[in-house]
Amino acid sequence: MVCLGNICRSPLAEGILKARLEELNKTVEIDSAGTGGWHIGATPDARSIKAGAKKHVDISNQKARKLQYKDLDYYDIIFVMDKSNYADVKALATSKEQEEKIHLILEFGNIGKGLEVPDPYYGTEQDFDAVFDLLDTACRDIAKKL
Ligand code: 4NP
Repeated sequence: MVCLGNICRSPLAEGILKARLEELNKTVEIDSAGTGGWHIGATPDARSIKAGAKKHVDISNQKARKLQYKDLDYYDIIFVMDKSNYADVKALATSKEQEEKIHLILEFGNIGKGLEVPDPYYGTEQDFDAVFDLLDTACRDIAKKL
C-alpha cells in the first residue's frame, strides 16, 4: 500500500486489508510505505488512527517508511492511492514486470477506472472518514480476490 507520506491513506489501507483478510481466514503479507521520506518512523496521523478506531481497525502501532526499490521485486502487487503515486512508483521501476505490479487501489478494488483516493492531509475529520469508507469498499473486494 503506497501513498505520499505513509501517514494518512496507506496506513489505513494496510490496516483495513489486513482486517478484511483476517475475516476470510486468509494469510497474505501486507505492508505500506510512502514515496516520500518526510515522516519516516512516525506513527500514522492522529486523524487516520481515529477514523480507523471508529470502525475497529487499529493502526496505532504502524511506523512510516519510505518505499524502497527492493519492494518492487519483493511484493507481488503494489497498490497506489492516486495517479501521482502511480507516476512516482513507476519512475522507480526498471522492468515491465515491476511496472505491471502497480495498480490504483480503487481500480483493482472495482470502485471505478481511474479513480483516486483523495489526499485528506489538509482536510477534515469527515474527509478521513470518507477515505476509510472508500478504502474499505475496495479492500473488501480485494480480500476476496487475493
Ligand atoms: P498521505 O498524506 O500521502 O496519505 O500519507 C500526506 C501526508 C503528508 C504529506 C502529504 C500527504 N505531507 O506533505 O507531509
